[in-house]
Amino acid sequence: MDKKEYINRLDEQKKLQKMMNTDKYLLNFHLIPPSGWLNDPNGLCEFKGINHIYYQYTPFDATWGMKLWGHYTTADWITYKEYEPFIFSDIPEDQDGVYSGSAFIKDDKIYFYYTGNVKHIDKDYDYIVAGREQNTILITSNDGFTYKDKKVLFKNIDYPSDMSCHVRDPQIFEKNNFYYMVLGARDLKDVGCVLIYQSKDLITWNYHMRIVPEKKFGYMWECPNLIEIDNKMFLICCPQGVEQEGINYANIYQCGYFPIDLDLENKKYSLGKFKELDRGFDIYAPQTFLDENNRRIIIGWMGLPDTEYTNPTVKNGWQHALTMPRELIVKNNQLYQIPLVEFKNLRGKINKELNCNKENVELDFNFSNCKNLEILLRNEIKLIYKDNIFTLDLKECGYGRDKRSVYLTSLKELQIFLDNSSIEIFINSGEEVFTSRCYSKDLKTDLKILGEYELKDFSWYELKKIEINK
Ligand code: FRU
Repeated sequence: MDKKEYINRLDEQKKLQKMMNTDKYLLNFHLIPPSGWLNDPNGLCEFKGINHIYYQYTPFDATWGMKLWGHYTTADWITYKEYEPFIFSDIPEDQDGVYSGSAFIKDDKIYFYYTGNVKHIDKDYDYIVAGREQNTILITSNDGFTYKDKKVLFKNIDYPSDMSCHVRDPQIFEKNNFYYMVLGARDLKDVGCVLIYQSKDLITWNYHMRIVPEKKFGYMWECPNLIEIDNKMFLICCPQGVEQEGINYANIYQCGYFPIDLDLENKKYSLGKFKELDRGFDIYAPQTFLDENNRRIIIGWMGLPDTEYTNPTVKNGWQHALTMPRELIVKNNQLYQIPLVEFKNLRGKINKELNCNKENVELDFNFSNCKNLEILLRNEIKLIYKDNIFTLDLKECGYGRDKRSVYLTSLKELQIFLDNSSIEIFINSGEEVFTSRCYSKDLKTDLKILGEYELKDFSWYELKKIEINK
């Protein structure tokens, strides 16, 4: 869909938006598509005080379709501006979708790298080893809103010869005077891995090395982010095809990270154990960026492809959302996620009593001793802590989402954010997180709590809506 087609079809958006406006499950403090479908966050960056949030966007269809890059901006994470899509599909190399990619800022310019998707339909292809092109494309912009040309950097023929057609989702970082590009990949033996390219000028790139696990961990790794925090490196990625192990890896596709020791100069690495970033039902394709205060911010797609569970919003013309933005920090060699401090600006007055009947709320529990616990929210959402296992149990309001669990050495803190159709639970200051959509009949929180616990502190706040202007 090029810009002309998009503009010609804007009436379709009006129709969808009319349906959306009747939906009680619209979200109040999460970004959703202006209409239609949203998936991965893309091109996240802060440029001259403005945070740019692009995302995979199908404006006129609430189910999977042709992808563009939608665009929001915010300076304060509370007031947002919606713009028309930033990247359209208008060259042969991205004719079937402007797929995921990222931003890198250098010398007052933003370099955007993305995957141009091409799907051939002249024959019956398997679309794994044939029939698909995934081109790595560069655009540069002086403002985040405009660009001149698209430059095709790589076509499939340029990737190592043992790769399948699935090589995508470029991310860039700088280290020791070189730039590196990381690409998610599936090789011809169905082993998920990442490829690393090297550059001196952000334009000419040479293949440098790849990162492959010692033992196969899924057939494809999507949306890699190789990041460094406090001198420690982590490879965040989304492996597909990992078998469930007890309560771990329960989702169809994974979203997590490997701690990694990486010696780029000598092309050596060692991968630590993969850890899930989030234990909920709706989390995928997260992207991180350093803001101008040097915070490492992470935003994910609050959704997941190919699931058995569904979203009743589809009939109202939209589907999916982005997670709350969070700050990533390192504690005990692990990544912790904390809601951005700016979210405190959404809080109404502080309440200390345990009865809470508002709809969109933040609940903060601080336990001095918690043996077991059962919290019921909105009469349907259950959080259970028993024998060191914490469980989110959604029953009917999950639309096919049942239970997800995690092991905890102890439960000390719970911070819960309830939006009209989502729940985000931050456990022990972000040590574990559960992100999920949920569709309760009654949206009043109606907090009930049972168990053997001592509360050191408890507060709750009603949360205001974020503001989105056109
Ligand atoms: C992840 C993903 C990416 C791809 C994009 C297409 O959700 O499959 O690998 O670039 O979505 O929308």
